[in-house]
Amino acid sequence: MPEIDWEGLRATARSVMARAYAPYSNYRVGAAALADDGRVVSGCNVENAGYGVTLCAECGLISELVAGGGGRLVAFTCVGGEGDLITPCGRCRQLLFEHGGNELLVETPLGVVTLEEMLPQAFGPADLA
Ligand code: THU
Repeated sequence: MPEIDWEGLRATARSVMARAYAPYSNYRVGAAALADDGRVVSGCNVENAGYGVTLCAECGLISELVAGGGGRLVAFTCVGGEGDLITPCGRCRQLLFEHGGNELLVETPLGVVTLEEMLPQAFGPADLA
């Protein structure tokens, strides 16, 4: 397992969480990840009056990854509410799989696991090849 500064990633996630736009749920989320070139990308949730249009924190993180030149995600963490660790929702696991694959390390309340453990037998780019 590569040396990951999980504390630093959590601090980034908590910092971006403070900027969340969550007037409907009042539940702020912040996510941060390390890319394979050393960049740290992050995102917060952005809600909408059309509730279903809400953007999860992971959406912003993936946008920053791609807009910043792409690359692969290596390690991911996510915090919500009072800044406690949370696990990504199902849709966001799929988003993370596209850019991190089975090996992506995910920090959870139960410890660090691989994305494969959180999203077994994922459908992904290889299925379309
Ligand atoms: N949320 C995220 O940002 N990421 C997740 O993985 C779980 C849920 C947000 C969406 C919504 O703004 C709020 O948390 C409550 O569901």
